[in-house]
Amino acid sequence: MSVPAEDVIELVDAALAADYTRVRRVGSKIARALTSGDAAAADKLRALMRRRGVPLRASGYAEALPIDMKSRLPLIEEQGWPTVPVFLNGPNQTVVKDFLADAQHIELLSSKGIATRLCVLIAGPPGTGKSLLAGHIAAQLGRPLYTVRLDSVISSLLGDTAKNIRSLFDFVPTKDGVLFLDEMDAIAKLRDDRQELGELKRVVNTVIQGLDSLDDRAVVIAATNHPQLLDTAIWRRFPYKIELDAPDEAVRIDLWRYFLFEDDVTSPHPPLLARASGGLSGADIQTIALAARRQSVLEGHAIDTGAVAWAAYEASAGRPTPPPRGQLTSDQKRTLAIGLVREKGVSQADVARLIGVTRQAVSGYLKEGGDGGG
Ligand SMILES: Nc1ncnc2c1ncn2[C@@H]1O[C@H](COP(=O)(O)OP(=O)(O)O)[C@@H](O)[C@H]1O
Ligand SMILES: [Mg+2]
Repeated sequence: MSVPAEDVIELVDAALAADYTRVRRVGSKIARALTSGDAAAADKLRALMRRRGVPLRASGYAEALPIDMKSRLPLIEEQGWPTVPVFLNGPNQTVVKDFLADAQHIELLSSKGIATRLCVLIAGPPGTGKSLLAGHIAAQLGRPLYTVRLDSVISSLLGDTAKNIRSLFDFVPTKDGVLFLDEMDAIAKLRDDRQELGELKRVVNTVIQGLDSLDDRAVVIAATNHPQLLDTAIWRRFPYKIELDAPDEAVRIDLWRYFLFEDDVTSPHPPLLARASGGLSGADIQTIALAARRQSVLEGHAIDTGAVAWAAYEASAGRPTPPPRGQLTSDQKRTLAIGLVREKGVSQADVARLIGVTRQAVSGYLKEGGDGGG
């Protein structure tokens, strides 16, 4: 039995329209028609459709994302929900919980006239989990996350920036998505980069109009490294504020446990590494931990917690270096032992366990260090 011409035409039409539902329907029909004449081809066709699944980013769909007229770059990206958990301190967990509860009951709150805007401002230095948290909020709400690329929104064409911003606020409600304005301070930087103060004003006003045009259900998350640069009128429109500073000790314990020890609750080391890594961001800790795990896998040894502690202790925020390979030198061990005991208040026994030496060796380091005035 042959395939009817009309099915082939229908198939091509559906493919060109990027209508994957119709492609599958016609595909199944063709497979049925092939079964008696060419069973192998029919099987192959069915296997193909099974394997391919349904692409989320069909071409027609990507074209519908707003773009900058000059650069042709998309203004918005749809991002998947995160796979890494986000670790927050207690007060921030409370803000997130309150926000989610309000968002999930927004119809009830609106009907009583007590809904607030579902707008969250996340402030904090780089690598503290702002983008990650935005992803988690979207995931908790079961809504797609649309991240705005502010670099492309700020168009080289004077006047187009405001138009770009308008198109974002028009687009996201049609998808019931979460609008994530990343690096919000890029807008404020217009003040320095361009002599045109008029444009800054226009852009700020467009953001405000955009925020004001949204209905009660709309969720907007903004992230910034420099909250003090934000226009106060924008600032006021975000009732939920989250300050993500460098993680505190409790959060650092969670981060080490998760990224270095794959959530093994029996490891005694995370609290000690947390002591050693004050001031580092979540991203810094992740970088060091994953480098240590790669070394341990490729070189076939257990994780060298002394080398990790050394890397954590020596790193400055935003510039982590991987743990040194091979054994720490005795100089490094001495410096680390003295630093952890004297500055970080870690006990000598814990330091010994962490760097893999005896307690006597640690007290030896301290005596030597003490004699040397260190
Ligand atoms: N609080 C945190 N909890 C869990 N992971 C974190 C945290 N902070 C940073 N990370 C890790 O660092 C990565 C980068 O963080 P990101 O969200 O991009 O930071 P930001 O947007 O603040 O610059 C995250 O994907 C995550 O793996
Ligand atoms: Mg980010």
